[in-house]
Amino acid sequence: MTDTVKIGIIGLGNMGTVHCRHVTELPNTTLTGICDTNQSRVDRILQTYDVPSYTDYDTMLNEADVDGIIIATPHYDHPKITLKAFERGIHVLVEKPIAVHVKDSHLMIDAYAETKKEYPNLVFEAMFMQRTWGFWRKIKEMIDEGELGQLIRTTWIITDWFRTQSYYDSGGWRATWAGEGGGVLINQCPHNLDLYQWLVGMPSRVYGFVTFGKHHTIEVEDEVTAYFEHDDGMVGHFITTTGESPGTNRLEIVGENGKLVYENGEIIFFRNEWSSIKQIKESEKGFEKVPVTREVIEFDHHGTDGHEFIIENFADAILNGAELIAPAGEGLNSISINNAIILSAHKKQTIEIPVDGDEYWALLEQYIADAAKS
Ligand SMILES: NC(=O)c1ccc[n+]([C@@H]2O[C@H](COP(=O)([O-])OP(=O)(O)OC[C@H]3O[C@@H](n4cnc5c(N)ncnc54)[C@H](O)[C@@H]3O)[C@@H](O)[C@H]2O)c1
Repeated sequence: MTDTVKIGIIGLGNMGTVHCRHVTELPNTTLTGICDTNQSRVDRILQTYDVPSYTDYDTMLNEADVDGIIIATPHYDHPKITLKAFERGIHVLVEKPIAVHVKDSHLMIDAYAETKKEYPNLVFEAMFMQRTWGFWRKIKEMIDEGELGQLIRTTWIITDWFRTQSYYDSGGWRATWAGEGGGVLINQCPHNLDLYQWLVGMPSRVYGFVTFGKHHTIEVEDEVTAYFEHDDGMVGHFITTTGESPGTNRLEIVGENGKLVYENGEIIFFRNEWSSIKQIKESEKGFEKVPVTREVIEFDHHGTDGHEFIIENFADAILNGAELIAPAGEGLNSISINNAIILSAHKKQTIEIPVDGDEYWALLEQYIADAAKS
């Protein structure tokens, strides 16, 4: 194989357009095909790049000279296109979320496992580029190295995803059950849900409170509060909305060794002098907290959105077997949390993970049908 991976891009909207630029600029990728069902989107990209173009992804997968593809279509098409690419042994980098629901996520993961029997070096990655951001990497390093000790609580208030009615009125597939499969959780929060599980692991039980169209005239959820329980005793809270301005992005992770806070681009660690668990057990003074120091944690951040690093990593994995930053199979985790929150809010009960894919799909079908009637 040459030292560059031939890439086709499917879906030439906001994200696909950015990917065309990165694939052209990166040293280990070459743009060799573009596809969009909308001819005018194709024509716009052709003004800048002279590459074979298609309006049907099946034709592109059959005819274009591509080693791998990047899928940047609306979410419901991610699984279909992935499965078609695997049939031809083509590597896949799929935009987030990998799918809308766990049933489709399993289909993709199973198809990948099956295809790898014939193509053992097949690469399947997801565009979770926030995993390359310096502050998240630093927080992960601190947790993985045990600096926080046993984790007690993680709370993420991520309410700075403000959107106006005109954003939703711009139409198309967004903010509908049939076109997008959800609201703030499936559109804005896949990165946050992925980072949550990447940093502190998967919850086992989820309780969600969800409001559909509370701040906007939309079918889907625009305000969510969720409570998570982890098997190791840690509890989590996830609060999000597109209806708050200015909103907040504050992540607190509390361990026995202190409290780590990410907010406004800064990481602060309130470091306990000794374990709070030890203090609870051993202190003879009823109200005495552990002595604490406040540290500003330094980190390096590349300062871009980071899509190019995932594409570069995807190509490096194809060419040299590099370890993936965001294996697509891990995309099931954020989808599972998403589906559990919605299912819990609907049933008004705690949902265990793994989520029953058939049950969630039945609920989604019901939401789609109800929306079509109104
Ligand atoms: N990683 C990120 O930072 C990030 C940011 C924005 C969007 N996204 C994801 O990228 C995907 C696309 O979002 P967007 O904002 O670019 O949407 P968009 O609506 O701007 O673009 C989607 C494009 O896909 C085309 N399309 C639809 N169905 C198709 C099909 N079957 N075959 C080929 N083309 C098809 C549409 O014509 C459109 O041009 C979504 O999954 C979204 O969640 C990721």
